[in-house]
Amino acid sequence: MTNPPDTLLFVNAAEVATCTGPVRQTDSADPSAVHQCTAVAVRDGLVVGVGAQADVLARYPDAEQIDCAGGTLTPGLVDSHTHAVFGRFRTEEYALRCQGVPYMEIARRGGGINASVRDLRARNEDELVEMALPRLAEMLALGTTTAEVKSGYGLDTESELKTLRAIRRLMEMQPIDLVPTFLGAHEFPPEHRASAEDRARYVDLLVGEMIPAVAASGLARFCDVFMEPGVFDGPQTERILRAGLDHGLRPKLHADELEGSGAAELAVALGAASADHLGAVSEAGIAALASSSTVATLLPATLFFLGRPRWAPGRALIDAGATVALATDFNPGSSPTPNLAFVMTAACSRMGFSPAEALRAATAGGAAALELADGRGTLRPGAPADLVLWRTASAAEIPYRLAAPICAGVWKAGVHVSPGVAPRR
Ligand code: NIG
Ligand code: FE
Repeated sequence: MTNPPDTLLFVNAAEVATCTGPVRQTDSADPSAVHQCTAVAVRDGLVVGVGAQADVLARYPDAEQIDCAGGTLTPGLVDSHTHAVFGRFRTEEYALRCQGVPYMEIARRGGGINASVRDLRARNEDELVEMALPRLAEMLALGTTTAEVKSGYGLDTESELKTLRAIRRLMEMQPIDLVPTFLGAHEFPPEHRASAEDRARYVDLLVGEMIPAVAASGLARFCDVFMEPGVFDGPQTERILRAGLDHGLRPKLHADELEGSGAAELAVALGAASADHLGAVSEAGIAALASSSTVATLLPATLFFLGRPRWAPGRALIDAGATVALATDFNPGSSPTPNLAFVMTAACSRMGFSPAEALRAATAGGAAALELADGRGTLRPGAPADLVLWRTASAAEIPYRLAAPICAGVWKAGVHVSPGVAPRR
């Protein structure tokens, strides 16, 4: 019996990293689960075989072959925290920050998130889609095949729904699978920030109007809050996330990003999918994450770009037993990078990750943070056939090559999607 021609074999890779290993690297365990002389077979959008190349070739003698030519094959990267739908970049703020003006001070002067809010409110949905498409193409060309995208630059019901509709349209127009998150609690909008009463009214609006409307639209899977001194406090955050839960939106949290405020502990108490940032997480927060299924998502490109003196305690989180993910935080203020491989480099060079731990965190870890249980972020039979071919002789060389253009090809559900494939309009 001959095989149908739609079976695809990836052969001649120097290494295949299946990312099926444990979170933590030990003497006997490799989180990226690297294999030599291994081939991957793909059919109907799924991985159907991972094994010794000779065996796979014997099983599928007539399959079309992709010659990996000594490169490295990994699962498609899963970027579990982005704000990729926004209007213009905020380039002018970077010049200020390079002169030493802090991120939160720029926000107080009228820049920051609310500058992006004014900008996004003035744009229509078509413009948001058009502006996001090239950014998603950049992410794809750098190896990302699944990405979370948050709203949060609208901050009123219609502008948030406009953003979520743009995300929904983008899902149909380009290859990256998008997971939508409602982040109406990203900041207090200009019309609701003058006094404590104004702010309380915005929380009422989130709980009484925005969350029910978003849930009814079916346009979001998660609900997120920026819990930080000067932004949303603990009681407000809890109220918002509980309202989300009541409406079927799973919680996520921007937690302990700049100053610690017990946000990681709250994320765990609410059973959040992930607690993200953690630049200032406490010992108690680390312990809480370690004993929970809430994923600790680290965003070191943000800490790098903001010039923060402290890095998130990645090593301590891993050693304590937390599940970790790495993500870009792609946004126009604190992290304008689509490059998740660079984030892996930062995790290794500054947070004590091994290259194998970093690759696992940017694949299977990201899938865990998005509660995707279909095998995504791994190469195992039954998993979606999302693959990246890297121009490196090993998986460990991916973070080592520090922002170099090493991504040679990307396949989504078994289809070649980058480079050289235009998005659908
Ligand atoms: O994750 N922390 C809050 N939100 C973003 C920054 C968004 C922006 O500056 O536009 C973050 O860093
Ligand atoms: Fe963020």
